[in-house]
Amino acid sequence: MGYNVAIDGPAGAGKSTIAKLVAKEKGYIYVDTGAMYRGLAVHFLKKGLSGDDKKAVIDACDDAKVTIGYENGIQQIYLNGENITEQLRTEKVGNMASKTSVIPEVRAKLLELQRSLAREKDVIMDGRDIGTNILPDADVKIYLTASVETRAKRRYEELSAKGEHITLEKIMTDIKERDHRDMTREVAPLKQAEDAILVDSSNMTIDEVVRTICDHCR
Ligand code: DC
Repeated sequence: MGYNVAIDGPAGAGKSTIAKLVAKEKGYIYVDTGAMYRGLAVHFLKKGLSGDDKKAVIDACDDAKVTIGYENGIQQIYLNGENITEQLRTEKVGNMASKTSVIPEVRAKLLELQRSLAREKDVIMDGRDIGTNILPDADVKIYLTASVETRAKRRYEELSAKGEHITLEKIMTDIKERDHRDMTREVAPLKQAEDAILVDSSNMTIDEVVRTICDHCR
């Protein structure tokens, strides 16, 4: 069994930025589980499916194989052997991932991949249900959050920098919708595990958050 750090929280809380830095400092492998859901979402979008068409989404799972690899220490997502990492971080893909991740069959498809990575390696794994469901015995559990306003502003800056044209208001609406869906779904909803450490990054610098988390790790 590897040393396992679970980091959960809502969209835009900064989980991936923080987890990458902690991974670097501590020598863990960073595993971004949201990227796996996004990988499946790309598959559903390629097939022209609606995220609300549950049956079609479940059927489409049969011919999707999501795997991960690392290039220069950076996680890559492969969909049926094709590297689709560059396609993952758009609002369209994020919303599709949020919609389809409520479906138990979609979650089941990724569960074993996530657990097997944690068994084999020292990992910091980020997602929504890592501390509550995927790795209930994780050595350290962090629940990283921030206010809706802070998260929307951060995502706006991230997307604008990449040239995606979207307003702050639209992002705010998307984030609220996504929080609601992620927190109220039946299977493995986003919530703070009882034994998780709460970190609210609204008024913290990246460095302060990294320090706080590193101090809790081996
Ligand atoms: O963290 P992210 O924005 O890349 O995640 C995209 C969506 O995937 C998120 O809205 C919900 C889903 N997800 C999940 O249900 N469980 C996880 N462990 C990670 C992501």
